Amino acid sequence: MKEALVAARHLERVFDLGSERVRAVHDVDLELNSGWLLAISGRSGSGKTTLLNLLGGLDTPSSGTVSFQGQELSKLSESELNQLRRHRIGFVFQSFGLLPLLSAFENIEIALRIGEWKRGERESRVEECLALVGLAARAHHRPYELSGGEMQRVAIARAIAPHPSLILADEPTGELDLATGTEIFNLLKQITRKEGVGIIVATHDIAMAKIADETRQISDGTFVS
Ligand SMILES: Nc1ncnc2c1ncn2[C@@H]1O[C@H](COP(=O)(O)OP(=O)(O)OP(=O)(O)O)[C@@H](O)[C@H]1O
Ligand SMILES: [Mg+2]
Repeated sequence: MKEALVAARHLERVFDLGSERVRAVHDVDLELNSGWLLAISGRSGSGKTTLLNLLGGLDTPSSGTVSFQGQELSKLSESELNQLRRHRIGFVFQSFGLLPLLSAFENIEIALRIGEWKRGERESRVEECLALVGLAARAHHRPYELSGGEMQRVAIARAIAPHPSLILADEPTGELDLATGTEIFNLLKQITRKEGVGIIVATHDIAMAKIADETRQISDGTFVS
């Protein structure tokens, strides 16, 4: 049987706030294969961000396991986990997270510098990623010279540049209009095919989620479909 890219088993995350216990995620089982776009849809507070943080090793489950290509995250050392987050997982956020003084090209290149890519290899990979997201003509624009949709394309190019196996995108269309958001979802789908990466997108927009290969709906911390 093919090994899943990411597998979560009986995942639970409880936040203990003294007087109150919040079960932000519970009884979650999930598998994602490479080349696949999975959308997790649910209303505000349903547990989407908490779940993505657990899957990306940014947070630790209260119980249950997350495995990445067969490796259980809880068994990795802190430095192994850092390596995994740095080299094998890309993150995309609602607010783009671009550095304002750097051009689109430089914002993408940063991910490769962090990944310790050699200078000569960085330039061609950045150009390839700009082309992949349809922004070859905007390479030297700074974020304030780009539209919201274009900024999100740069953020996606930055996430994909170091050849991660998995991209986690938390509400990447939250600040975009419906038409632009739809374009971004379609772009993510194309990227799963072209780059062979697995992508999980959290969204509150059920219509948008339907573009994905598969949609799971989360409510009060657990999948209801
Ligand atoms: N660090 C934390 N400490 C305590 N409670 C938390 C923490 N993070 C999240 N929660 C709670 O867990 C639940 C799920 O939150 P989460 O941020 O995962 O939802 P979400 O689906 O991403 O919402 P949104 O669509 O608004 O981003 C909420 O009740 C929230 O208040
Ligand atoms: Mg959230």
